[in-house]
Amino acid sequence: MSTRALSSTNLTPTVLITKEAIEKRVRELADQLSAEYAGRELLVLGILKGSWVFLADLVRMMSVPVIIDFMTVSSYGASTKTSGIVKVVLDLKCSIENRDVLVVEDILDSGLTLSYIIENLKLRRPRSLKIVVLMDKPARRRAAIKADYVGFEVPDKFVVGYGADYAERYRNLPYIGYIEESAAKDEG
Ligand code: IMP
Ligand code: MG
Repeated sequence: MSTRALSSTNLTPTVLITKEAIEKRVRELADQLSAEYAGRELLVLGILKGSWVFLADLVRMMSVPVIIDFMTVSSYGASTKTSGIVKVVLDLKCSIENRDVLVVEDILDSGLTLSYIIENLKLRRPRSLKIVVLMDKPARRRAAIKADYVGFEVPDKFVVGYGADYAERYRNLPYIGYIEESAAKDEG
């Protein structure tokens, strides 16, 4: 639409999950994880970029020793729909062989990204491999994959904030909100 010269940062997301609710839930997850991995050292593997805010809060609330590494995959471009094509843009630095690995991701949507990552990581023979996601959108699943820990189940909306982006915007919002798909499409 030619009259829509708005930058996507001008669309104010509708609040879905408040900052306070996120903090409470992240603390619960951290307590659960600390109990599950008590007495062990955990390799926390963040999937960039969406996981970084969640990961930073989560590990600071956990009481087990952690090593942190990151992996960057890309599947989206600036569109709000998955392409189904996953590419490792940056691999992790640590070996995960014989380690307890916890993959941290912002959103489990179609599941294509995480199932690719999990298959890839399994080949490296970790001792254990689990997944924690901040948000789960089960309505849109295309791959048979489940997270071991889920922060929030969210409706089929395009969510942003607390690490999640739309065209690289909104990652720094302290809350989780959604933007209307129609607006997003006009922008994208
Ligand atoms: P999947 O492969 O469809 O499961 O997509 C997973 C990735 O797409 C996540 O890591 C997110 O970065 C991104 N994604 C999926 N849904 C949303 C959304 O509603 N908002 C922002 N990013 C999303
Ligand atoms: Mg992502």
